[in-house]
Amino acid sequence: MPLHLDFTNMMAGQLPGGAGITPSQWAHGASRFATAHARVLAQHAAGTLGFIDLPTDEDALAATLAVARRHGGQVDDVLLLGIGGSALGPIALRSALRPPHWNELTVEQRDGLPRLHTLDNVDPASISAMLSRLSLARTLVLVVSKSGGTVETMAQYLIVRAALDETLGEREARARLLFVTDPEVGALRAVARAEGITTLDIPANVGGRFSVLSPVGLLPAALIGIDVRGVLAGAAACAARCASPELATNPAGVFAVMQWLADREHGAHVQALMPYADPLRDIAAWFVQLWAESLGKIRADGTSVGPTPLPALGATDQHAQVQLFMEGPADKTVTFIKVDGREGEGLIPSRHAERPELGYLGGHTLGRLLEVERQATAGALAARGRLNATITVPAVTAQSVGALLYLFELATAYAGELYEVNAFDQPGVELGKQFAYAMLGRPGSEAARAQWDALPKPDPRWQV
Ligand code: PA5
Repeated sequence: MPLHLDFTNMMAGQLPGGAGITPSQWAHGASRFATAHARVLAQHAAGTLGFIDLPTDEDALAATLAVARRHGGQVDDVLLLGIGGSALGPIALRSALRPPHWNELTVEQRDGLPRLHTLDNVDPASISAMLSRLSLARTLVLVVSKSGGTVETMAQYLIVRAALDETLGEREARARLLFVTDPEVGALRAVARAEGITTLDIPANVGGRFSVLSPVGLLPAALIGIDVRGVLAGAAACAARCASPELATNPAGVFAVMQWLADREHGAHVQALMPYADPLRDIAAWFVQLWAESLGKIRADGTSVGPTPLPALGATDQHAQVQLFMEGPADKTVTFIKVDGREGEGLIPSRHAERPELGYLGGHTLGRLLEVERQATAGALAARGRLNATITVPAVTAQSVGALLYLFELATAYAGELYEVNAFDQPGVELGKQFAYAMLGRPGSEAARAQWDALPKPDPRWQV
């Protein structure tokens, strides 16, 4: 079993003080889930949920691998330009499935494979530092944007493109560029057509935060030697396990329902994801975007809904956030991710046996310490009536990572139905975008400019 979800500590009867989801709440959740599952299937049948097709999209995989083979061999560095879903997925895959500190390893330690850098912001200091470090003649630049027009990614592109043109000349610059974007629309697609730049498609029905299993995640992953076929196989295995309309046998359904009930019935509006494994840290960051941007919405009846996802890392956050989880407001769930089979890793030497604070550690392993600490934290939270659950994977492999990513994507689609919101749009980010366009003078943003100009201005009374 590649993935296991234990939600005992979410349930009433297991927790003190009447905390936890009651049997009748769970029964209600199961019946709501049956409808949610049917609606997700119907939307998929209608062609709108393309992320469900990605694990078995052999054509996209073949195209991705062919481009990676053709372009990957000759470079030392891959530089990915993108933001949001176009960057978080690739970062999560690299952290999970390449050895730690991949970009710091020597070329031999990397088996000749390139480093992977991501520019997921427009901080000028980061971009100029990156450009000053890279040899552009030995760098492949991936420009990743579903819409093909996101302001931050386009600004990154214009800067890096100018550097490429200047250093290598326009012809060679074009050969150093790969685009990943919508098959038809957007500025990036138009540039690709005009200049003959190699481009991989993000299916039109796959949105940014659901795109990690498309060429968005797979191309950079393949370029750095990740077993992308294994990632898709793991996702497909998870999809098969989640085909059931019965809540009891559908792990993505259970994740969605337990979080929804915890939020709705128990005030657990903050939902932490806390892997106890450094390689999975960036999956928590990826999950934050997925859960937040998909579920934080205004419903048709005008009410605002949506849990607040929170990234955490065990054991590091035991010394940062766990105090809050234990004694702060009881408004949180914590989902741990446990990696099995690490008991033998990292033997702790037996030294200073005469000192009780050190002697007991000798002969244990770091793997056991990490797992014991996870169990202890889960138990301590439960003892205080704090809701928590544990997802276990057998090891950090391409398959288990693919399964985890798919589990969270499908759970998000189910949760959208439970919350009665569209999990696949993001209207709330539009107004800020329009204001930014207006201030930058983008044509067509005159109405936004007028709205911006009419907003209250900073008041000297309220400044210090
Ligand atoms: O999930 C989403 O749609 C967004 O968060 C996008 O990933 C982000 O805005 C980047 O968009 P794009 O890939 O179109 O550049």
